[in-house]
Amino acid sequence: MGPTAEAGSSLLGLWLLLCSWGCPGSAEPRAPPDKIAIVGAGIGGTSAAYYLRQKFGGSVKIDLFERGEVGGRLATLTVEGQEYESGGSVIHPLNLHMKRFVKDLGLSAAKDADSLTGVYNGEKLVFEESRWFIINMIKLVWHYGFQFLRLHMWVEDILDKFMRIYRYQSHDYAFSSVEKLMHALGGDNFLRMLNGTLLETLEKAGFSEKFLNEIVAPVMRVNYGQNLSINGFVGAVSLCGVESGLWAVEGGNKLVCSGLLQASKGNLIPGSVMNIVEKTKTKRTGGPAKMYEVVYQTGSEVHSGFYDIVLVATPLNRKMSNITFLNFDPAVEEFHQDYKHIVTTLVKGELNTTIFSARPLNKFDLTAVLTTDNSDLFINSIGIVSPVREQDTPEPTTDGTHVWKIFSADTLTKRQILKLFLSYDYAVKKPWLAYPQYKPPEKCPSIVLHDHLYYLNGIECAASAMEMSAIGAHNAALLAYHRWNGHTHMVDQEDLHEKLKTEL
Ligand SMILES: Cc1cc2nc3c(=O)[nH]c(=O)nc-3n(C[C@H](O)[C@H](O)[C@H](O)COP(=O)(O)OP(=O)(O)OC[C@H]3O[C@@H](n4cnc5c(N)ncnc54)[C@H](O)[C@@H]3O)c2cc1C
Ligand SMILES: *[C@@H]1O[C@H](CO)[C@@H](O)[C@H](O)[C@H]1NC(C)=O
Ligand SMILES: *[C@@H]1O[C@H](CO)[C@@H](O)[C@H](O)[C@H]1NC(C)=O
Ligand SMILES: *[C@@H]1O[C@H](CO)[C@@H](O)[C@H](O)[C@H]1NC(C)=O
Ligand SMILES: *[C@@H]1O[C@H](CO)[C@@H](O)[C@H](O)[C@H]1NC(C)=O
Repeated sequence: MGPTAEAGSSLLGLWLLLCSWGCPGSAEPRAPPDKIAIVGAGIGGTSAAYYLRQKFGGSVKIDLFERGEVGGRLATLTVEGQEYESGGSVIHPLNLHMKRFVKDLGLSAAKDADSLTGVYNGEKLVFEESRWFIINMIKLVWHYGFQFLRLHMWVEDILDKFMRIYRYQSHDYAFSSVEKLMHALGGDNFLRMLNGTLLETLEKAGFSEKFLNEIVAPVMRVNYGQNLSINGFVGAVSLCGVESGLWAVEGGNKLVCSGLLQASKGNLIPGSVMNIVEKTKTKRTGGPAKMYEVVYQTGSEVHSGFYDIVLVATPLNRKMSNITFLNFDPAVEEFHQDYKHIVTTLVKGELNTTIFSARPLNKFDLTAVLTTDNSDLFINSIGIVSPVREQDTPEPTTDGTHVWKIFSADTLTKRQILKLFLSYDYAVKKPWLAYPQYKPPEKCPSIVLHDHLYYLNGIECAASAMEMSAIGAHNAALLAYHRWNGHTHMVDQEDLHEKLKTEL
């Protein structure tokens, strides 16, 4: 660095010192914060760290608190030495943030294996996919008229509008609430989808009861463990999950979280955050400043640290994060969103296919069975899965055994597993509080809980998915940056879609 640059930077230092009391109307950036805390190191917390680093630069210290494993709801279970996704597993080809992370981190995508899906209603298979595209088409038209095509168009239209978020975020625009974000994407129509059930939305659009029961409801059961009473938007997100080209991260989706953590140079602090306290503190560099004290427990020891900005990247409720906000005036509101209990069970064994179909074992070629709401079965879905590492994929077995993944509302008993399998060698389970229990009209939690305190997981009220958490994280990072610097014109802009059309 030459002498002029040095002189320049000390002048800037003086200027920043003078302006620490506020320079109204000045366009110069305020000094970056010293320390930022992120609570939770799932895909939301780690991508927030990544985006915060991009915005605030190299000098800010970013601490991530995690009481479990990095990855959170992206995790694996091991069966005979091979890992399988136990939480969030499939990614849509148009999930551009996830795609970007994988590319930037030097990871690679594993294509979803070809599958053949059937739908079981408690008595018989009411729908069976075929290996032949043309046969699928004929079957679908035969059973449901052209409804599947209309459904596809309905989903595409929503996806098209949803994709606007990438444009807004690449231009650095942020939103202060989930409703404002949704409105900027799809106007009142998107808000109406949060207000009503998927059933109401699709009935109004003229879909038949048979189609809704036999095709749409089983998809909601496998993806969200719920029925057609979920909100219309999460319903559309869920239907995107039956499209082709789905993928996962080679080696496991959680690698994105550890990769982002490393790339952001975030500092991982193992521990459970108990309280976040508003405090006025005298800073080294100036007068009194409002700060947040994060109180956390590691083992049996309680520690704390002070931060300028805090992002909460975990669902805020007693059962999941149990964080108490102290000393805030007005008090930080309490959220009571229920999360749905879902159990993932992996079983290595031979399926008793006669449960689903009278066809002889060697003629049963389905790799996944979904269930209708009235099937009275103790599972939501069952399907063959591949390990997270492609080279670990076992040779096709000749003895009829596979590793099956089962989703169910409750833990399966040994008797229930024996009902599904002729024999099995191995079974492991992971219970989750998986995603919100959707009850439209959805009242989404605030994103801004206090001046520089943000809540990311409110976005799950619209839909819970890896990409939604990444979008919520990017939004919160931009929002934190703009609010820190007083860039009000970058927050909650109306008609962004029209504005950005002309600003190419
Ligand atoms: C069974 C299942 C299947 C799914 N399938 C898909 C799918 O196919 N595709 C898809 O896109 N999405 C899927 N999802 C949803 C997706 O996994 C989640 O939406 C996403 O992973 C949420 O990420 P997050 O970072 O916001 O939250 P989380 O991953 O929950 O991260 C929060 C983190 O905070 C930590 N934490 C909580 N409280 C504290 C505290 N007090 N102190 C310190 N740390 C704390 C937790 O340990 C956790 O690691 C699925 C989820 C489940 C459970
Ligand atoms: C959604 O419902 C809320 C009340 O639950 C109402 O205030 C709002 O106007 C509704 N929005 C739309 C777009 O229907
Ligand atoms: C969905 O399930 C809930 C209870 O879990 C029930 O109250 C509701 O009526 C069901 N809705 C539909 C459309 O089946
Ligand atoms: C939540 O934390 C408080 C202490 O902060 C503790 O007393 C309580 O048992 C915890 N609740 C749950 C459900 O973990
Ligand atoms: C397989 O399931 C069918 C239907 O539930 C049952 O009648 C049969 O006994 C089962 N077969 C074995 C070997 O358990």
